[in-house]
Amino acid sequence: MKLFGFINFSLLLFVTISLSCTDFQTAKYSAVLKYWCGKPYIPKNQLIKNLNQLKLNINQCNKKTSCLTNKNEPNCTGTLSSETPPTIRLPPTSDPVPLIPNLGNGYTVMFRNQPYLSTDLVGSLLVNLNNTISTISVKALLHDGSEILAITKIKHDGNSIELPFSLTPIKPKLEAHEVKILFYIEDMLAHISYAKLYVLPVGPKTVKIDRLYGGILTSTNETIFPVGPYVDIGGWLEKGNIQTNLQTLKDQNFNIINPDPPYPNISFIHQMFQAADAIGGIYIQFSFRHDYTDIQKVINQVNQFKNYSSLLTWYIADEPDGENWTNRSSAVFEAYDVIKKIDPYHPISLTLNCKYSSAFYADATDILGTDVYPVGVNMLPCTEYCDVCGCDDCIGSVTLDIPKRTQQYIKDLTLIGREFIIKWMALQAFYDQNAWWERAPTSQEFSVMWHISIINGYKCLMFWRFPFFLDHSVIDQIIDLSKEIKELSNYLLFMPQLSPSHIVISPDNDIYVGVWMSKNQNKFLLIVVNGNKKLSVNFRITIKDLICLGLLPGIGRIDNETNIKVSIENGVFEGNLKKYGVGTFIFEKTLINRAYTDCYDIQASRE
Ligand SMILES: *[C@@H]1O[C@H](CO)[C@@H](O)[C@H](O)[C@H]1NC(C)=O
Ligand SMILES: *[C@@H]1O[C@H](CO)[C@@H](O)[C@H](O)[C@H]1NC(C)=O
Ligand SMILES: *[C@@H]1O[C@H](CO)[C@@H](O)[C@H](O)[C@H]1NC(C)=O
Ligand SMILES: *[C@@H]1O[C@H](CO)[C@@H](O)[C@H](O)[C@H]1NC(C)=O
Ligand SMILES: *[C@@H]1O[C@H](CO)[C@@H](O)[C@H](O)[C@H]1NC(C)=O
Ligand SMILES: *[C@@H]1O[C@H](CO)[C@@H](O)[C@H](O)[C@H]1NC(C)=O
Ligand SMILES: *[C@@H]1O[C@H](CO)[C@@H](O)[C@H](O)[C@H]1NC(C)=O
Ligand SMILES: *[C@@H]1O[C@H](CO)[C@@H](O)[C@H](O)[C@H]1NC(C)=O
Repeated sequence: MKLFGFINFSLLLFVTISLSCTDFQTAKYSAVLKYWCGKPYIPKNQLIKNLNQLKLNINQCNKKTSCLTNKNEPNCTGTLSSETPPTIRLPPTSDPVPLIPNLGNGYTVMFRNQPYLSTDLVGSLLVNLNNTISTISVKALLHDGSEILAITKIKHDGNSIELPFSLTPIKPKLEAHEVKILFYIEDMLAHISYAKLYVLPVGPKTVKIDRLYGGILTSTNETIFPVGPYVDIGGWLEKGNIQTNLQTLKDQNFNIINPDPPYPNISFIHQMFQAADAIGGIYIQFSFRHDYTDIQKVINQVNQFKNYSSLLTWYIADEPDGENWTNRSSAVFEAYDVIKKIDPYHPISLTLNCKYSSAFYADATDILGTDVYPVGVNMLPCTEYCDVCGCDDCIGSVTLDIPKRTQQYIKDLTLIGREFIIKWMALQAFYDQNAWWERAPTSQEFSVMWHISIINGYKCLMFWRFPFFLDHSVIDQIIDLSKEIKELSNYLLFMPQLSPSHIVISPDNDIYVGVWMSKNQNKFLLIVVNGNKKLSVNFRITIKDLICLGLLPGIGRIDNETNIKVSIENGVFEGNLKKYGVGTFIFEKTLINRAYTDCYDIQASRE
C-alpha cells in the first residue's frame, strides 16, 4: 500500500492541539476543534456530530480572534487567554530596549559573512536605511566600549551599504560579541541597533552566510544556492545502500537534502554523513523537527555530527508556528541558543508556515525558511481569522501567493531591523487529498513558483517531498531546473538584484521580472515569467540602467528551448511568452557590441 505510506508521511503535518479560545473549552468540541497559525479550524474527514453548531461557534470565535491583530477592538479584554501571541519578540540586549513595536525604526544592520574566523582579516557591516534625506553617520562599538568601526558618514541611495572594518583587534572566542551600532543625524544620536558578531577560533568545519547576496559558503568554501528535497528516511533513504541513494540524489542535481526524521538509529546517521562527505557536493540539513524540545538530545547530536564536511545547517523546527503559533516559551528559542553555544560554526534554519509569524521567530534562526503550498487548495471556507485551508491567507495562486507571503515577511522583518535575514523557500511538489491539496502542481506551475521565488529574493529552493509522487513531466522539470540553478548562481549569488523601481513592466499584472546586474553593468541576468495561465503575452520591459546603451545581444532559454538569441535595445526588452512561460537570459561583455562600449563611455564621461 504505497499510497497509504505516502499519505501518512505526506506533509509537514497539521497535528491536533486544543488551544484556548475560551468559549470552546467544552468537552463536546475540544476533541475536534484545532488551531493552526492561531486560527481555529475544523479538521477534514472527521466525524463531527454537531457540525452546524460548530461552524456557528467558529464564526463567533473568528470575530474574537481578530483581537489577535487589533487589541484595541472593543470587547477584546478577557476574551482571549494570556497565550494571545505578541507578533514581535524583542531581541535580548545588554542595554534596555524600549518596548516599542517598530524596534528597527528604519535602521537595519547585520554582519555580512558570518561567522568570521580568526584568520579572516576584514569583516563588513551591512546597513540599510529608509531615510534617504539626511546624511547619517554610523559607528560600532564592542561591549567593552572599544570601537571597531570609527564614525563614518553614509548616504543612502536605495541599496544596502557595506562598511568594511578590521577584524584583527577583535579577540576570537566561541561566544558572540554583542556589538552596539550608533547612528547620528547631524551630531545627534538618532538610533542604536545591536548585532551579534562571531569571530571564532579556526579549526572546525565552518559554513558561512553571505548576507549581502544570500549565498551559503560551504565547509569547502564553495558558494552555493542550495536546491533539493526533503527526503523520506524510513520509506527511502535507509533502504538499500546509503551511498548509492545519496549519489542518486546528487545525480538529480540536488546539492542539499533535508532527511526527514525519524532516523532508524545513530549509526545510520554517521553512515549518511560519511557517505555524503565521500561523495562531496551534496550537503545535509540535519533536522531536529520532532526533537528540539529534548534539549539534551539536541546537545548530544550536535556534538556528534558537527565535524562532518557535508553538514550544512541545523534545522531546528518545521512549521513551529502552525501548531504552536507564537509561543513565548517555545523551546525553539532555547534550542537556538544551545546549538549556537556548542556549534557556532554552522547556521541554524527553520521553516515557518504562517503569514504573520516571521518577526516573532527571526531571533531563533540564522536562516528564515517558509513554505507556500497554493496548488489544489480550496480557500472558500477560510477567512483572515478562521482556518488556513493548507496555505495561510492565500488565494490559491501559483503566481500571487508567494509574493504576498514575502511582502508580509519583509514588512514585519523591516519593522524589527532584520530584513537582511536570508530567506529560503520550500515549494509544493506533492498532493494530499486526505488533507488540503487535491492535486499536485503541473510542470509549468512548478516552474512558475520556482522562478517567482527566485525573483522574490529566496536563496534556496527546497521541495516537499522525495521520493516524488508526481507525473514524469514534473519530475523532469524539477531535475532540469535544479541543474540550471548552478549556472544562474554566478549571477544570483554575486550580483545585486535591481530594485523594482529600476524596471518598468508592461503589462504589469501578468509579467514577473528579476534582473541581477554586476556593478559595472557589463554582465547581467534577466528572468521573465508569464503568470497568465490561459494566454500567451507580449511583454515589454524597460531596464532604466541601460536606457542609453544601444543594442545589447544576449542568449537564453525559453521554457525547454535553449540557446535563444535575444537583444535589449536602449534598455528595452520585448518578447512573447506562452501561458506560464519562463525565459532566462544572460548578457555578458563578450556578447556586447561596440555600441555598448561607446555608450558606456558617453555615460561615464557625463558623470
Ligand atoms: C461588547 O460587549 C457589550 C456588552 O457585552 C455588548 O453590548 C456590545 O455589543 C459588544 N460590542 C461588540 C463590538 O461586540
Ligand atoms: C522609516 O521607518 C520608520 C519606522 O518604521 C518610520 O516611522 C518612518 O516613517 C520611515 N521613514 C521613511 C522616510 O520612510
Ligand atoms: C570535532 O573536532 C574538534 C576539533 O576541531 C574536536 O575537539 C572534537 O573532538 C571533534 N568531535 C568529534 C565528535 O569528532
Ligand atoms: C574562499 O573563497 C573566496 C572566493 O570565493 C576567497 O576569496 C577566500 O579566500 C576563500 N577562503 C579560503 C579560506 O580559502
Ligand atoms: C540502523 O539502521 C539501519 C537502516 O535501517 C539498519 O540497517 C541497521 O541494522 C541499524 N543498526 C543498528 C545498530 O540498529
Ligand atoms: C509544539 O510544542 C510542543 C510542546 O512544546 C512540542 O512538543 C511540539 O513538537 C511543537 N510542535 C511543532 C510542530 O514544533
Ligand atoms: C508553549 O511552550 C511551552 C514549552 O514548550 C509548552 O509547555 C506550552 O504548552 C506551550 N503553550 C502552548 C499554548 O502551546
Ligand atoms: C518542449 O516541451 C513541449 C511541451 O511542453 C514539447 O512539446 C516539446 O517537444 C519540448 N521540446 C523540447 C526541445 O524538448
